[in-house]
Amino acid sequence: MTLLEVSGLRVTYPQGFRRPDFNAVNGVDLEIGEGETIGLVGESGSGKSTIGNAVLGLAPVSGGSIRFDGKDISKAKPRQRRLLSEHMQVVFQDPYGSLNPSRTIGQTLAEPLRVHRDLSPTATRSEVSAMLERVGLRDSDAQRYPAAFSGGQRQRIAVARALMVRPKLVVCDEAVSALDLSTQAQVLNLLKDLQAEMGMSILFISHDLAVVRYMSSRIVVLYRGEVMERGTTRDIYASPTHPYTQKLVAAAPIPDPDRRTMQT
Ligand SMILES: Nc1ncnc2c1ncn2[C@@H]1O[C@H](COP(=O)(O)OP(=O)(O)OP(=O)(O)O)[C@@H](O)[C@H]1O
Ligand SMILES: [Mg+2]
Repeated sequence: MTLLEVSGLRVTYPQGFRRPDFNAVNGVDLEIGEGETIGLVGESGSGKSTIGNAVLGLAPVSGGSIRFDGKDISKAKPRQRRLLSEHMQVVFQDPYGSLNPSRTIGQTLAEPLRVHRDLSPTATRSEVSAMLERVGLRDSDAQRYPAAFSGGQRQRIAVARALMVRPKLVVCDEAVSALDLSTQAQVLNLLKDLQAEMGMSILFISHDLAVVRYMSSRIVVLYRGEVMERGTTRDIYASPTHPYTQKLVAAAPIPDPDRRTMQT
């Protein structure tokens, strides 16, 4: 079953007085099945985040459609968006920026439950502590603030927050790009394990083809707001057809000893 179907997506940003609008995303098609991970890769500025943001309702859709669970959500109103957030969550690159520094981890993780579930304080606390444990943190971490954690731990917290309400789709936008290689591998494996348990779909956005390859069954290669190439991860790697993809593959060779822990 298809969970997310993006067709002919266009996102146009105004550039100010007497300057033509900028087409950040120009007719992009993309499909994600239930429980599947699609990798979206491309150079900086190619429009990857813009696509993720359009799916999340954070970028203006000027053409095409975004169907989620069979419904077009490209023009969803704020109220519909709030309801959708139960099924669609995001993990950004910098959880330091997205975790509220003045709230404890426990408060941050309880927030999605408060919005979408009607749980007693005791039930909420036990859900929070189960999730903390699941992502490799301690129950007592609920009392601490974001500043007290390392980058890798903060990314685990961001993953925990995204999964509190068991969403159907998680958009991961450069979710491990700020981490060192071994921490990257840990967080990626955590995501994979949680996906195997919970069955969510992932739109996995990264400029790093090696990371995308590790996570995704299919890859979409973006260049200047357009899809250059798409296919199974295996096919893209075995025979990249587009010159841009060939360059990407050449720049992300498989036998890299530092990344060996991440190879399947
Ligand atoms: N809110 C905005 N207003 C105007 N232009 C924007 C806005 N957001 C993005 N852009 C432009 O759209 C283009 C695509 O940006 P986007 O952030 O989607 O790229 P990206 O592929 O995610 O890049 P990176 O790998 O650096 O994160 C860029 O040229 C960017 O400057
Ligand atoms: Mg980006």
